[in-house]
Amino acid sequence: MREEGFTVSQSLFNVLVIEDDLRFGGLISRTLSASLRPLYRTEQARTLGAALDRIREGGFDGVVCDLGLPDSRGLDTLRELCPRERPFPVVVLTEFDDELTGLRAVREGAQDYLVKTEAEVSILPRVLAYAAQRKQDEQRIRKALELKKQFTAAVSHELRTPLTVIEECLGTVLDDPGQDESQNRRVLETARSNARRLAHLIQSVLDFQKFESGRGEFEWAPNYIDRIASEEAARIMPEVRRKKLQFVFENDSDLPPVRSDRVQIARVIHNWMSNAVKFTEKGEIRSRVFRDGRFVRFEVSDTGLGIREEDLPKLFQSYEQIVPPGTARKTGGIGLGLAIDRQIIRAHGGQVRVESTYGKGTVFSLSLPVSSAAADDFKMEYDR
Ligand SMILES: Nc1ncnc2c1ncn2[C@@H]1O[C@H](COP(=O)(O)OP(=O)(O)OP(=O)(O)O)[C@@H](O)[C@H]1O
Ligand SMILES: [Mg+2]
Repeated sequence: MREEGFTVSQSLFNVLVIEDDLRFGGLISRTLSASLRPLYRTEQARTLGAALDRIREGGFDGVVCDLGLPDSRGLDTLRELCPRERPFPVVVLTEFDDELTGLRAVREGAQDYLVKTEAEVSILPRVLAYAAQRKQDEQRIRKALELKKQFTAAVSHELRTPLTVIEECLGTVLDDPGQDESQNRRVLETARSNARRLAHLIQSVLDFQKFESGRGEFEWAPNYIDRIASEEAARIMPEVRRKKLQFVFENDSDLPPVRSDRVQIARVIHNWMSNAVKFTEKGEIRSRVFRDGRFVRFEVSDTGLGIREEDLPKLFQSYEQIVPPGTARKTGGIGLGLAIDRQIIRAHGGQVRVESTYGKGTVFSLSLPVSSAAADDFKMEYDR
């Protein structure tokens, strides 16, 4: 099943027709086959059981379903067939003296209904295409509402915590002026670091929303990823030394430049390198930039905590936080860091990947496409 469901510009639309009346099923298939845009391909199932088996195998863009089947009747059929998260539209067929059931079906999650007459079936091609569009809009709204819910939950908790700390710190200083200066200073430092954390969280939310809505602004230029990686490695070196870790740096020679936003790529590389250092207590961090077919790839591996297999799919999801091994609770954060990293790399036409063995270490990698046309378009601003 395509992730996004049918789009009106798509040329081929696969329909599952669930109808035990073979004659009527045939009429539906013939009517749909006569449509040229989109082109419909139909498959028939005569029972709900057979239909559900086929749906599990995937590959459908829409379903047309009679509500009177040998193994299921009326709205029960619909409930089985279309839990709201299903990505495809369902159009139900009702007997011609039973429009009420059709209307109820729409309320229960079907996108439309048709009465079982030849005249109504003749408009099915258009009905299905619009139903698909409505389903897609519904999915989009559902996703936006889900994001809003996660956002509210994350914000109310994560923003409140540093704010409370700041308030307490200021209270300590203001309410007890007799404290010595160094004590006051320590309290104010705590307030400042919490204010910074707050600013970082707010910036993450704003960035995430901007990228998510496609409003991210990028300054495109030809950049050498190995150079960016070297600069970021230098920035985290003090922390590497403090933790007495080894840092191994490897770059292919003669790597081509990549059309990219230097600041944004640096931000991703910095986060991954600093994560590698943060979650590693002994051993080494290895950074590598190399050519991989049409891509330039950056990879950072560590010999640290690793990530549990069940957490890997959550890692790049927005507002998802994992509980790192060895700690009782989630790290203080809003769960957007890696989600933003992925948005940035996707906006570059690239891909992110993570592999990890729990207790052994983790490898994060990103690949950015080398477009010869794009590279030729630019004049190199600096020599290597
Ligand atoms: N190299 C790694 N090894 C083990 N766990 C990691 C590694 N990189 C990321 N993680 C896990 O993924 C989580 C999310 O990483 P992310 O960079 O988004 O946030 P963070 O590092 O906790 O906070 P921030 O980047 O905002 O300071 C981390 O908290 C950690 O649990
Ligand atoms: Mg991080």
